[in-house]
Amino acid sequence: MRRAIYPGSFDPVTNGHLDIIERGCKLFDEIIIAILVNPDKQPFFSIEERRGMLQEVLQDIAHGQCILRVDDFEGLLVHYAVAQQAHAIVRGIRAISDYEYELQMALMNRRLEPNIETVFMMPAETYSYVSSRLVKEVFLLGGELDGLVPPLIEARMKEKVTAS
Ligand code: PNS
Repeated sequence: MRRAIYPGSFDPVTNGHLDIIERGCKLFDEIIIAILVNPDKQPFFSIEERRGMLQEVLQDIAHGQCILRVDDFEGLLVHYAVAQQAHAIVRGIRAISDYEYELQMALMNRRLEPNIETVFMMPAETYSYVSSRLVKEVFLLGGELDGLVPPLIEARMKEKVTAS
């Protein structure tokens, strides 16, 4: 049973994240999509909202026999990964600019917990410029999100700004 953690903020989940999860399913038997609880950041969506949305959109992706779970965690990622008996941490790398930061994190995580490997995965080229940060910026400035996030996520973003 090969279990991986796919950690992140997922604020919101993008098609790039879902592409990585689909690809990760070809390598692992179980992937835990783990949302970081970060009290220092003011998120667009609450942890509960992000968990709910992830659970909904994961139903529409091709995951074969791979088990997908959504969870959240606080503190060190490697502590969480050990507690979950995970073998690996999956991170998506879109461009060389991601690599430096991701390499630092991967090596620090390895130093903290040598038994857990970080696996870098590349999303489809179509998503190589898609990030949650840009999705929020485009949305808040009135741009279309077609193809960047699932329709459900765009709808929830609209509901969120209408409600506030
Ligand atoms: O989606 P993000 O915001 O790029 O994800 C970053 C994340 C959650 C992977 C990273 O911030 C993290 O692992 N935070 C947990 C705290 C931790 O373990 N810090 C040491 C990392 S070397």
